[in-house]
Amino acid sequence: TAFGAVRSRFESWRRSMTGNNLAIIVLAAGQGTRMKSRLPKVLHPISGRPLVGHVLTTAGRLQAAHVEVVVRHERDQVVAALQADYPDAVFVDQDDIPGTGRAVQVAVDALPPDFDGDVLVLSGDCPLADADTLSAFLAEHRASGAPATLMTALVDDPTGYGRVVRDADGGVDRIVEQKDANAEEAAVREINAGMYVFRAATLRDYLPRVGVDNAQGEMYLTDVPGLLRRDGDRVAASVVSDISVTFGVNDRAQLAEVGRLLNQRIVRRWQLEGVTVIDPTTTWIDDDATLAPDVTILPNTQILRATTVASGAVIGPDTTLVDCEVGEDAIVRRTDATLAVIGAEATVGPFSFLRPGTVLGAKGKIGAYVETKNAEIGEGSKVPHLSYVGDATIGRGVNLGASTITANYDDVNKHRTEIGDEVHTGSHTVLVAPVRLGAGAKTGAGAVVRKDVPAGALAMSVAPQRNIEGWVEKNRAGTGAADAASRENSAE
Ligand code: UD1
Ligand code: CA
Repeated sequence: TAFGAVRSRFESWRRSMTGNNLAIIVLAAGQGTRMKSRLPKVLHPISGRPLVGHVLTTAGRLQAAHVEVVVRHERDQVVAALQADYPDAVFVDQDDIPGTGRAVQVAVDALPPDFDGDVLVLSGDCPLADADTLSAFLAEHRASGAPATLMTALVDDPTGYGRVVRDADGGVDRIVEQKDANAEEAAVREINAGMYVFRAATLRDYLPRVGVDNAQGEMYLTDVPGLLRRDGDRVAASVVSDISVTFGVNDRAQLAEVGRLLNQRIVRRWQLEGVTVIDPTTTWIDDDATLAPDVTILPNTQILRATTVASGAVIGPDTTLVDCEVGEDAIVRRTDATLAVIGAEATVGPFSFLRPGTVLGAKGKIGAYVETKNAEIGEGSKVPHLSYVGDATIGRGVNLGASTITANYDDVNKHRTEIGDEVHTGSHTVLVAPVRLGAGAKTGAGAVVRKDVPAGALAMSVAPQRNIEGWVEKNRAGTGAADAASRENSAE
């Protein structure tokens, strides 16, 4: 019936608008020789994630029915690095036959045999292709009706990329790899971005026909377009306007360049969300970090991993935060902090070192040349100068005098220090753990506290001072000190 025909067209349209007929294959089996690295290329991180992790994060946004990652070089290391973060990805092992064509072939063979949708092929070393770009690319492929669509770009310097050779009518004729190109082909400035959409059936038909008769002795995926054309089929090309989405990482110089571009994009995203970034070129924000509107980031600052910063906080200059949580209106300057929580309106720095497990309460302070570790510092409590506070629980309204130190390590074990509310310690107090200072207790300057101090007590461990009058004039006669002393003494 007419209604049935409309309905089936509607169904196919609806299917085309969801991911049910989409499989994504991410190529990550290559060694990455040009990186000259022990670490597999696709695991080199930028913006807090391995290169291939960015590709998988983007793939996740496209809601494909299948996501496959092809692995071979250091496969266990690659799988271990990705498995937990991308539980829906299926890892497929490439065999001894090298090349991107073989990689895609083993992945297609691992799809359900009745899968007849589109296959989006992405490279694990091209992390800048975002979900919007890829959705538009897919839509273009589906609108064209061609069995294959390439993403291409026009670049000034095509070195290293496959060249897209067009026929007399301007259609795609074939791709020629750099190493197989003659002078005329090498001069072509339209490059293959290494991202493609194929109908699954097309790959099943054509990959078995791809040989290894080329300069690298590999099965090139890039042979498929030429073979399709020889059969009189059409291959569509989508020329991207922003060539940066096609940039791949083959060496360390490209790693830095692609990392810079990705960071630029992340910084800009937060700026548009209301974050003031004074100097985008020296501000590094990982992809997993979250910043609230009205945060201010000063120069030379790194906001790394899953760090979150609440509204009104000012971070930097010269600050590195790794997996930290910063509260509203806190101020954190010239600080290095990892796995630390900084409360609302607290101040940290300059020159503070916050190690894992530091929890600073609201309106608290960690000041200059202070190191903290595994330490809870209560609301409004201050550790202002030259201290080490490790394995400690500190109440509210506490003030640790300059250079107060927790001696938490007895050479064998670590011990805790407990400090009650409103305790004030004198300068240069050494708290020898395990030890407890009750609420409101005080210590004298230079106290070495080895026993618990009851609430409200004053602990003193330094012997009363004794002055031996005239000692310098008698024992150091003729020195500048003796002369100065006798001048002052005779003037009195
Ligand atoms: C490839 C393309 C080239 C394109 C460029 C775009 C081929 C033959 N050439 O070249 O036309 O311009 O990408 O960036 O496809 N990989 C495997 N298994 C292998 C070999 C590679 O999974 O056997 C993976 C790699 O890990 C990498 C991706 O495929 O993620 C691309 O491989 P790479 O060696 O970097 O190819 P290019 O020389 O850059
Ligand atoms: Ca590459």
